[in-house]
Amino acid sequence: LFSAVELAPRDPILGLNEAFGADTRPDKVNLGVGVYYDANGHVPLLRAVREAEKARLEAQLPRGYLPIDGIALYDAAVQKLLFGAASPLLAERRVVTAQALGGTGALKIGADFLHRLNPSVPVAISNPSWENHRALFEGAGFQVVEYPYYDAATHGVDVEAMLGGLAKLPKGAIVVLHACCHNPTGVDLGTEDWKRVIESVREHGLVPFLDIAYQGFGDGIEADAIAVRLFAEARVPFFVASSFSKSFSLYGERVGALSIVTDSHDEAVRVQSQLKRVIRTNYSNPPTHGAAVVAAVLNHDDLRATWEAELGEMRERIRTMRRGLTQRLAAHGDFGFIEAQRGMFSYSGLSSAQVDRLRAEFGIYAVGTGRICVAALNDGNLDRVAEAIARVI
Ligand code: LMR
Repeated sequence: LFSAVELAPRDPILGLNEAFGADTRPDKVNLGVGVYYDANGHVPLLRAVREAEKARLEAQLPRGYLPIDGIALYDAAVQKLLFGAASPLLAERRVVTAQALGGTGALKIGADFLHRLNPSVPVAISNPSWENHRALFEGAGFQVVEYPYYDAATHGVDVEAMLGGLAKLPKGAIVVLHACCHNPTGVDLGTEDWKRVIESVREHGLVPFLDIAYQGFGDGIEADAIAVRLFAEARVPFFVASSFSKSFSLYGERVGALSIVTDSHDEAVRVQSQLKRVIRTNYSNPPTHGAAVVAAVLNHDDLRATWEAELGEMRERIRTMRRGLTQRLAAHGDFGFIEAQRGMFSYSGLSSAQVDRLRAEFGIYAVGTGRICVAALNDGNLDRVAEAIARVI
């Protein structure tokens, strides 16, 4: 049965964790995976999460099944965070939200549902994009193509090229858009750019699929939702995959959601019924703990304020690290773009050969594309990382 099975390559991001774990050098640094580490190099357990977990433990709740689409209070809280509590979409009950296994799980159930609706359209992802976007949509049976996005010369978005690429897509094509803190480049569209993208999506009959895994890591919870809010105003149907892995530091709990914006409540009811079939045949229903914690925090004024403050601290610490790296590299060129980029990542411009040298000679791990996770820098490793980068460039 298995004699012809070929050895698959390591995952370009999570595979780095395996290599990092096996590295015995004490001063190794993992700038690969998109995980926020605190000033001491630890994945934080947020105070808001700790308090919500304590209350849950004390309540000694039974462990029954969740509904197929998850905890209703959680789904409602997700909707408010994404669309705004006063959104007419929510009042009109036009949004279907299902708890999902992280942002990846949300993309997967969305992809499976879309494939049942229209298997022959292509899925367009940005060039470059998160490595798993292509694999995930191809795995769901779609052909995946790219639209232009990053301009290496300006370290910005080539908006005209992007719009040109979208205009060439066939009607019904699915367009995956990073709503904020673009992964891997750290460069986002401005509000006016988003309006032009939305116009193009409408004009060419495209299906937007927004991926928002870093809400709160750019400019703040509300500001980072701008793309979602603009699409909501545009009255086009669209999908949103969202995640609390990073913003609640709940990576291993797999807490995300898929939201689908429909034209009417009647449509939403039908879409929800079909989405539940997709979920039921994938993993039946989602796990309880992480989503219960998030729902408790988001639905409790004090805990929510604590969480927002903690998220703000994470955002500010990343900014400080960006500044620190830019300053330390200033003697070797203009690295101001590192400070200007947003979210956890910097598209450093390092070549794959330079990334290999960083790992081999210095024990510093980065993604082969040159993406580095700035959120893994701290005062203890910043000098070493900057010196190593200076040595390989
Ligand atoms: C990343 O891009 O590093 C994160 O989104 C983690 C992952 O699953 O790849």
